[in-house]
Amino acid sequence: MSRRKFIAGNWKQNNLLAESADLVNELLPLVQNIKSVDIAVCPPFTSLALVKDRLRGSAVMLGAQNAYAVEAGGKLVQSGAYTGEVSPAMLKDAGCEWVILGHSERRQYFGETDAKVNAKIRACYEVGLKPIICVGETLEERDSNRTAAVIDTQMRGCFANLPAAKVAESVIAYEPVWAIGTGRTATPAQAQEVHAQIRKLLSELFGAQTAAAVRIQYGGSMKPENAKELLAQPDIDGGLIGGAALKAKSFADIISAAV
Ligand code: PGA
Repeated sequence: MSRRKFIAGNWKQNNLLAESADLVNELLPLVQNIKSVDIAVCPPFTSLALVKDRLRGSAVMLGAQNAYAVEAGGKLVQSGAYTGEVSPAMLKDAGCEWVILGHSERRQYFGETDAKVNAKIRACYEVGLKPIICVGETLEERDSNRTAAVIDTQMRGCFANLPAAKVAESVIAYEPVWAIGTGRTATPAQAQEVHAQIRKLLSELFGAQTAAAVRIQYGGSMKPENAKELLAQPDIDGGLIGGAALKAKSFADIISAAV
């Protein structure tokens, strides 16, 4: 099966309104003729409405970087007394098609667990918001040969009891923690090895057809100089881009490398 490449920009906690507007305005003309790649930008919550407005008429999609939902009494709660939180229903309402879940920075600083990510994914499915689900090992885990075990645990936890049809439309981002924002990228072979493992696990959990449909992005210091080689790997279907997504030209160059 040929999977359409998908490049998403994770702006993280960056860009005030004016900067968000400038970045999108600069990006759109650079990518308007690229029809064969899916593109999304994931601004901070405060810039979603403005960016949504700027994206009107373009094929670039809108995503958020986190969402909150919890299971209570067998139901997924999408509103209520959870001060400071934003639910998948709210993001969908605000015009998002995508949301990043389980990013390693959220796991590291905000207590995100696989079980929490699983509830969030199910809440996304309930409202038609598509998740980009992040998994990845730390340097210590890689150095002690635990990469495969860590990925296995994260995948099984995040994907427990999900419907295969929805999983097929979801995206997974393999982001080795040691490569995020460090300038140190996984080699294409290192990334491919884990991507293949993820797809094999998807096949075990949801069947070969679903596994073949899921797009698996690589994330971690992907930039114009290394994008082409990474994207040429058979199981690398796109990128989740942090630092390089904050400059229109470098983000557009990565998208061009996916054509
Ligand atoms: P980076 O971030 O491209 O700056 O390494 C990727 C990410 O954290 O999604």
